[in-house]
Amino acid sequence: MTLPDRYAVFGHPIKHSKSPRIHRMFAEQTGQTLDYSAVEVPAEQFETAVAAFFAEGGKGLNCTVPLKELAWRYAEHKTERAQLSKAVNTLALQADGSILGDNTDGIGLVSDLTVNRGIALAGIRILILGAGGASRGIISPILEQLPQTLVIANRTEDKAVKLAAEFQAKATITGCGFDGLENQQFDLILNATSASLSGQLPPLPVGLLAAGGNCYDLAYGNEPTAFVRWGRENHAANSLDGLGMLVEQAAEAFFIWRGVRPATPPVIELLDSERQKA
Ligand code: ATR
Repeated sequence: MTLPDRYAVFGHPIKHSKSPRIHRMFAEQTGQTLDYSAVEVPAEQFETAVAAFFAEGGKGLNCTVPLKELAWRYAEHKTERAQLSKAVNTLALQADGSILGDNTDGIGLVSDLTVNRGIALAGIRILILGAGGASRGIISPILEQLPQTLVIANRTEDKAVKLAAEFQAKATITGCGFDGLENQQFDLILNATSASLSGQLPPLPVGLLAAGGNCYDLAYGNEPTAFVRWGRENHAANSLDGLGMLVEQAAEAFFIWRGVRPATPPVIELLDSERQKA
């Protein structure tokens, strides 16, 4: 009897990760036989743990906070989107024994917005709040959708300006501090700060969201985040959190590993209905 192919998510903390359930649902749905577990891995043990996982026959890994930059450094080859984002959330064993690094977060976000929610990004004005790792990971897939403008606003203005400059060659993208948002309007505001997680909100001027515009928080939780609530209060057509993105980035990783694309809407609906009951 052959053992099922092994996959895992490494992170710290990892206890509440939804990834094992999501991948098991994908496997069941697509008739794939695999094993997927969640492993607590502190940053200091990352390299040893990854090397041991693949040496023992593991086929693929997801890496989450705070390991994505370490995974980027570990991967021998990287996709272009991973190269640009300087973070890797998916490692895949290749036929020649080498390890490929990819970042499926940005494409996960874009798929959730455009396919699941019907929000087209072409020709619209987009604002990203935050200039850390989460923000960097979504910029190039968003630019590929050809928005009219992309502005990055950050508490530390300098970081936003520098991040925008890195992608400048690709499109009209600018960086500013939060005070630079006065008298500006956007059709889509994405919250990529970690402020939500502590219930905080960046200072956002009145009128920032255009009529009929949408809000999206990359974070998610059982309760609406502070930014999702801000979107509702500011009459967003949709004020969404990152549950859909979580499932979509997992689907893209599953596709990289297995060559099969699972259907995501039933998985998103199930996880959403469970948290509404929680
Ligand atoms: P991540 O990988 O989640 O992006 P990070 O790289 O540490 O984490 O970046 C966190 C981002 O959230 C940064 O843009 C940070 O702003 P600074 O660069 O000024 O530190 C932003 N952030 C965190 N807490 C915030 C708060 N209370 N208000 C506004 N921005 C906040």
